[in-house]
Amino acid sequence: MRIDGAAYRTIWPTEDGGAVAIIDQTRLPHDFAVVHLTSLEDAAHAIRAMLVRGAPLIGATAAYGVALAMREDPSDDGLERACATLLATRPTAVNLRWALDRLRDHLAGVPEESRAAAAAIEAAAVADEDVAINHAIGQHGAGLIRAAAQRKGAGEPVQVLTHCNAGWLATVDWGTALAPVYAAFEQGIPLHVWVDETRPRNQGASLTAWELNRHGVPHTVIADNVGGHLMQHGKVDLCIVGTDRTTATGDVCNKIGTYLKALAAFDNGVPFYVGLPSPTIDWGMSDGLREIPIEERDGREVTHLTGLTADGRTETIKVTPDGSPVANYGFDVTPARLVTGLVTERGVCAASREGLFSLFPERR
Ligand code: MRU
Repeated sequence: MRIDGAAYRTIWPTEDGGAVAIIDQTRLPHDFAVVHLTSLEDAAHAIRAMLVRGAPLIGATAAYGVALAMREDPSDDGLERACATLLATRPTAVNLRWALDRLRDHLAGVPEESRAAAAAIEAAAVADEDVAINHAIGQHGAGLIRAAAQRKGAGEPVQVLTHCNAGWLATVDWGTALAPVYAAFEQGIPLHVWVDETRPRNQGASLTAWELNRHGVPHTVIADNVGGHLMQHGKVDLCIVGTDRTTATGDVCNKIGTYLKALAAFDNGVPFYVGLPSPTIDWGMSDGLREIPIEERDGREVTHLTGLTADGRTETIKVTPDGSPVANYGFDVTPARLVTGLVTERGVCAASREGLFSLFPERR
């Protein structure tokens, strides 16, 4: 994507090869800051503290984290320690485990003295593949938006609702849920995006809105509870969200609140699609509700709000009374029966084992 005329990915090795650069997403939308990771602990911290976030970007950062770790200790023990440290950073996005398994398998046959270079090459391959996958999701998903446009009057914008941030900031480039939006926008299809604010961390209000704004895509930020009302009044043509882990049976785990949007969409006959890159499929799971680990985060994300004051200072304020306990679940699971279709890099399929097998027959 382009920021002020320059092309950016969300993660890249620095020119001298000494570090891995990321965009610090905790400082958006008010401050665009690039941070350099130079060690395993830097990479683990970046994922844990959510400088980077979004399932595919977490996977890519973990891959680069292994590459940084191999410069410190390329032994088998060093590799295992790196994978264990990175795996412990966040529990829900399966791309993390997928990337670490891939790097571990790849490096197993590589002599210690060559592991740092081999890991850097493999991490770059993970990043490049993510870009290609998301670009393909964009092309397939744009077809759905085009079809919605054809059902509407000429020139009337297709109304898309999305939750959290599943745009280019959540991936290496393009995004998953937003890749179809960007592709349709480039194709000249008129559209408008309803952006759920996505409490408690506000990834919609701060990140999705920032991306769409930078890209010139018409959008409106709404409070989390507005979507049902909009759907009841015919103001949403389709929902599209990302996912942190989708089971082999099509159950979709995504940012907390996704399930409620899927219920509202189902009740109102609004199609509900999921942008799903194949590394986000957990082929070993079949019951999302029982099996997917749901991250529980610091209650301070619920009790406090951070924003910019009129004079440009960042301020954090408390919005709950002292003494009230809080709970902070990061994700929920939308059962496959509420999902209209999964938009993968190989095309769109039903949210079911058969649907996924039809596109990924090698997994049968
Ligand atoms: O907690 P986050 O910000 O990492 O959660 C991100 C999401 O839930 C995204 O929707 C998901 O990772 C899909 S990203 C393409």
